[in-house]
Amino acid sequence: MANVLVVGTQWGDEGKGKVVDLLTPAFDIVARYQGGHNAGHTVYVGGRKVVLHLIPAGILRPGTLCVIGNGLVVSPEAFLKEKADLAARGVRIDETNLALSRRAHLIMPYHPLLEKIDEDRRGEGKIGTTCRGIGPAYEDKAARRGVRAGDLLDLDVLRAKIRENVGLHNEFLKFHGVVPLDPEAVFKEFAGYAAEMAPFIKDTSLLLAREIKAGKAVLFEGAQGVLLDLDHGTYPYVTSSSASAGGASTGLGVGPREIHFVLGVVKAYTTRVGSGPFPTELRDDLGKRIAARGDEFGATTGRPRRCGWFDAVAVAYACRVNGIDGLALTKPDVLEELDEIRICTGYRYKGDLLPGFPAEPWILEKAVPEYRTLAGWRNSVHRARDFAALPASFKDYVRTIEDLVEAKVALISTGVEREDTILIDGMWPAGLRLDRVKAGIGR
Ligand code: GDP
Ligand code: IMO
Ligand code: MG
Repeated sequence: MANVLVVGTQWGDEGKGKVVDLLTPAFDIVARYQGGHNAGHTVYVGGRKVVLHLIPAGILRPGTLCVIGNGLVVSPEAFLKEKADLAARGVRIDETNLALSRRAHLIMPYHPLLEKIDEDRRGEGKIGTTCRGIGPAYEDKAARRGVRAGDLLDLDVLRAKIRENVGLHNEFLKFHGVVPLDPEAVFKEFAGYAAEMAPFIKDTSLLLAREIKAGKAVLFEGAQGVLLDLDHGTYPYVTSSSASAGGASTGLGVGPREIHFVLGVVKAYTTRVGSGPFPTELRDDLGKRIAARGDEFGATTGRPRRCGWFDAVAVAYACRVNGIDGLALTKPDVLEELDEIRICTGYRYKGDLLPGFPAEPWILEKAVPEYRTLAGWRNSVHRARDFAALPASFKDYVRTIEDLVEAKVALISTGVEREDTILIDGMWPAGLRLDRVKAGIGR
């Protein structure tokens, strides 16, 4: 049995949703380990688009147990809405195929209010968050006062914790001229959620331990990407969770040795939503053309994504930080029709070549990318299913990326549908049921 972790290697939106859905038939369980409904994971099934935010993308495959780990921050409202929306589309969800960790922290009504105040305070330097209350919910967790999913199971505890938190945060809201919240009204709202959510709330670390012991295979699903990781990303322009592979162990209460293979999802170019340094950004018409062809609009907020060339310095860094075993290369079809394609091979800062990806945003902001220019390819990549039949210039592009980032490509996605996929033989761990992935592609 092989457990695989799927992680974003750039600034999110690499196509993790498609990859997770595609691989799910080889697994019994799909477990998300961090983030919240800031994520937007898009899956196309037979021409129909589904965007998952909080619920693992494995939910679309019947018979898969989906786990929302302790590392997430969960908005009960968003959870119940996403569940209802999926049910309306015919996706069966009940406590037999979805579990939520008792230890997951809840996003409370004051969190988006606190976030808005902080973003406004930053002015020009704002992070450009998704305004979902993600950051403040993780702040409360680190401050050891957060309300957790398990607290919904005892209404006396829930009321006391809501009183404490609303009392504290109201002072700050009042100071900033925001109408304070009524703790009793918040309690009533959450007591309502509690009744609906209780069947899903479990000790998911224990659940996973039992299932793994019984020989079940787990796919660990990451949200966001390494460059948005709280520790390893482009701080402070990051999200507030551990999006890197290391986050899976703490975010699910699973020992690191249970992760057998780390698959990094990487786009054939680079995108970023929100503010922050982006050395290979294309601020010209070409950037707009790539955005249009790639349909680069946020799956959660609808904001246009900034686009730029493939950045091998950033992805090589992501491969190192995550211990990547293989890459899933997505969206190369978007670059079709370009005569030349560029790849960033290094950064210069004040004239000197930097040894790698810098930690400081003010260095990254001024980093001047050095590029290698490759020949483009025309057509024949979109919806391709056979690697051997692909144009030589495309194969050269793939090999160049592999050499620069020191990781091999295991999967190439050539379109939005499950069928638009090439699996590279010999790149997958022993024990992975690839036959099931292949059988599941057409369904
Ligand atoms: P995620 O957050 O990493 O799951 O990625 P998103 O769903 O936010 O964004 C990826 C977008 O690219 C989605 O609209 C996908 O349907 C789309 N996509 C995924 N793979 C491919 C591909 O190979 N080619 C094209 N053209 N689109 C793709
Ligand atoms: P998926 O899982 C792309 C970005 C926001 C902002 C920063 C902080 O779909 O790849 P937050 O609301 O998390 O405090 O915002 O992180 N961001 C994402 N960008 N994809 C995502 O998720 C993102 N989730 C957060 O735009 O710059
Ligand atoms: Mg996304």
